[in-house]
Amino acid sequence: MSTDGGDARARAIAAHREAWGEPETIVRAPGRVNLIGEHTDYNDGFVLPMALPFDTVIAVSEAPGGTAGEIRSEGFGRFEIDGDVPDWAVYIQAMRDVMREAGIEAPAWRGAIATDIPTGASLSSSAAVEVATGLAIAAQAGAAVDGVAIARFGQEVETRLLGVPTGIMDQLISATASAGSASLIDCRSLATTSLPVPPNTTVVVMDTMTRRELVDSEFAARAATCLRAADLLGVDALRDIADVADLAPLETKHPLEWRRAAHVVSENERTLAAAEALGSGEAVAFGALMNESHDSLRDRYEVSSPALDRIVDIARGGPGCLGARMTGGGFAGCAVALVRSEDVDAFVRHVADGYETWSGDAPRLWPGVAAAGASVETLA
Ligand code: GLA
Repeated sequence: MSTDGGDARARAIAAHREAWGEPETIVRAPGRVNLIGEHTDYNDGFVLPMALPFDTVIAVSEAPGGTAGEIRSEGFGRFEIDGDVPDWAVYIQAMRDVMREAGIEAPAWRGAIATDIPTGASLSSSAAVEVATGLAIAAQAGAAVDGVAIARFGQEVETRLLGVPTGIMDQLISATASAGSASLIDCRSLATTSLPVPPNTTVVVMDTMTRRELVDSEFAARAATCLRAADLLGVDALRDIADVADLAPLETKHPLEWRRAAHVVSENERTLAAAEALGSGEAVAFGALMNESHDSLRDRYEVSSPALDRIVDIARGGPGCLGARMTGGGFAGCAVALVRSEDVDAFVRHVADGYETWSGDAPRLWPGVAAAGASVETLA
């Protein structure tokens, strides 16, 4: 159990050296944990994530002309850009396609990619691949592309090329996070406010070790229901509804739309209240909002799972726990807790023992430090 992010950078450089010699540029993009504001981003709402000290890293150099270039990924093999695209490389090729359409095209390049972000754990490993690839392409193209633009390209990959109607949270926090802070993001204006985690508290990420395939269709169904609810209410997005009471016209005739929208509208309120609580260092209030968020995701949005509910319950009964909830898209993967720093060791033991007794699998627990957003380092 450690807060060290691992050594993806060293592994990417070593892989590049072995294949092609010294890299010229190193790009890194972190995973994230969302503290509150779940399933609000694609409703133009508010989110409050922070970057984690786990990175996807690409060691990059210019490739000889005549091809578009090549990517090597540890554990997955190699792939020629613009050639046949194996499953693991779809994000890379799609990022290239989206950026090329926007007029940003790198000359032939090669990259060795390594990651320390657990996959399928709701910690945004695919967004990190998109952001890292975007930065590599921009660097090789010699184009100045800011973090917001890279995040938009990443979101376009998900929505347009891969057909999953996600929001922009994961890419934006990976691209723009500030070390030591969470970010309140207004997903309509993309305005971002950095807010420190309350003093004397620690964010603990808790991996249930459950993974689920085929959640994309569940995700798309939730997004479509939200759109329908907004349509029925005559607004552009559920962000435009200020109060759950304003959903009354849906309650009887459209109970599913009402339930989903009630989550989104109340979650936006909670996220803004949570940002205020962070601003004034009110850890207890923040934790209570995390608890309410989980209950709403479980009961109204129906994206939790038995394992997520269980680890959240165990966490809430643990020493120093101020609040706990599932994080990310849901159905499997990770939950997150806010814990008094003096109790973190006892808390981690409590959750590890309790969850392993229930599931038979030892959970992974990371007392988290808010890490910096993506970066580009030029070596040559
Ligand atoms: C996934 C999506 C995000 C967001 C979350 C739920 O991580 O990629 O855009 O919708 O789920 O909050």
